[in-house]
Amino acid sequence: MSDLKKIKDEFLTKLKGKLNLPEINQIKSDLFGKNGLISSQFKKIGSIVESDRKKFASDLNILKDELQNLIDLKIQEIENTEINEKLEKERIDVTLPERNFVRGKIHPVSQTIDEISSIFSEIGFSVEEGPDVENEYNNFTALNTPKNHPARDMHDTFYLDEKKEKLLRTHTSPVQIRTMLKDKPPFKIIAPGRTYRSDSDQTHAPMFHQVEGLHIDKNINMGHLKGCLDYFITEFFEVKKIKMRFRPSHFPFTEPSAEVDIGYEIRDGKLIIGEGNKWLEILGCGMVHPNVLNNVKVDSTKYQGYAFGIGIDRLAMLKYGINDLRAFFECDYRWLNHFGFDPLDVPTSYRGLSR
Ligand code: DAH
Repeated sequence: MSDLKKIKDEFLTKLKGKLNLPEINQIKSDLFGKNGLISSQFKKIGSIVESDRKKFASDLNILKDELQNLIDLKIQEIENTEINEKLEKERIDVTLPERNFVRGKIHPVSQTIDEISSIFSEIGFSVEEGPDVENEYNNFTALNTPKNHPARDMHDTFYLDEKKEKLLRTHTSPVQIRTMLKDKPPFKIIAPGRTYRSDSDQTHAPMFHQVEGLHIDKNINMGHLKGCLDYFITEFFEVKKIKMRFRPSHFPFTEPSAEVDIGYEIRDGKLIIGEGNKWLEILGCGMVHPNVLNNVKVDSTKYQGYAFGIGIDRLAMLKYGINDLRAFFECDYRWLNHFGFDPLDVPTSYRGLSR
């Protein structure tokens, strides 16, 4: 019997039997591996007498195809059986009780940041970000607060190194510097984010949130600042009109500087924002000091504008009737469930009160 016939008989029988994947792979390598039976036959072709060579080569190719096809079929068959067995075993039991579904809530501070960003974006402000770990230059010096300036004491800074060069930013104002250093005027940005001061009681936490605003262009004046804040506060508190006053103040990075209070009163035990004879301080602002513009190479003879810094947590407390700031950062699940926002239930991004 010729070699080819022997191979054919032997392997056809083998391939008809019941095989698993490792066994079939073994057969494949016995036949077609580097020194496999079929591969060796191919190497022999050159030494066969010329008269027989053509037929031998043709028979060998036919046998090779036949075995190869059989092996492929067998592999397919084995894989199908495995899939079917798995499907049978892992069939879903639709009568099982469903798993408990818990939907998370959006933290009031996150909700408030979203609201603030939407309100300002409607009048052309874009959102910038800066890192929590700042350098001393961006946080103080570039903002016209040189070393030994008394305003540095107000900030109770968390320094991160002995040389006092790295710190946790004490306000979002350094984002003004970062923005003006990286782009060219005009600028119209807000920068919400975390800020840090060594301070802790019912109304102060060592980590809190601010949003910075900066608008620099060729003809910006305090009237624009007033209009912008009036628009923001009425939109934010969802009221038609707001009583607001600018009180002269001092910040090293603005001249003139002001603090803004809004009117309020307590009626039937409820806080009413925007009316009444009492005042609540909500933000600091002013016209950007020319020294700050010069520090970031903006020509202060051509460009000017306003800046403001608002405490976000305070706004969230006022809007949503939360009276202890510390609860914001305690991660009490029950508190979050009560004061948090349903992600699918807020009608528009900043109409938080009408939910
Ligand atoms: N950075 C000030 C603070 O944290 C707030 C502030 C006041 C920001 C006036 C400003 C500004 O941009 O113009 O107390």
